[in-house]
Amino acid sequence: MYTERVMDHFNCPRNMGEADGYNAEGTVGNAKCGDIMRMTMRIEEGVIKDVKFKTFGCGAAVATSSIATEMVMGKTVEEALALTNKAVVEALEGLPPQKIHCSVLAEEAVKAAIEDYNRKKP
Ligand code: FES
Repeated sequence: MYTERVMDHFNCPRNMGEADGYNAEGTVGNAKCGDIMRMTMRIEEGVIKDVKFKTFGCGAAVATSSIATEMVMGKTVEEALALTNKAVVEALEGLPPQKIHCSVLAEEAVKAAIEDYNRKKP
């Protein structure tokens, strides 16, 4: 049912926890399944130097948040804002249709953290 890549990110999540000295955070949730995803980032001069996640949710949510952190690490905030849930699903080599909303959560968490950064910017 799940691709090897999903299982890999679920079993060995990358970048789990809280980014050291983070200056951006975003928490999003899905009202239907109750899953919650939190992303923290340390952004310096518009570049994501560190990003970590904590996900209270299903295995697909863990896998999508894990791969999403890898996809935006080292990117500019503009590049990271262009991340789509479709790209996350492709990077995981697919998700079952009933799990697509988990990838939406990953996209939303990245965007929420960057919005927070933009809000706090002097
Ligand atoms: Fe809702 Fe996965 S079941 S995020």
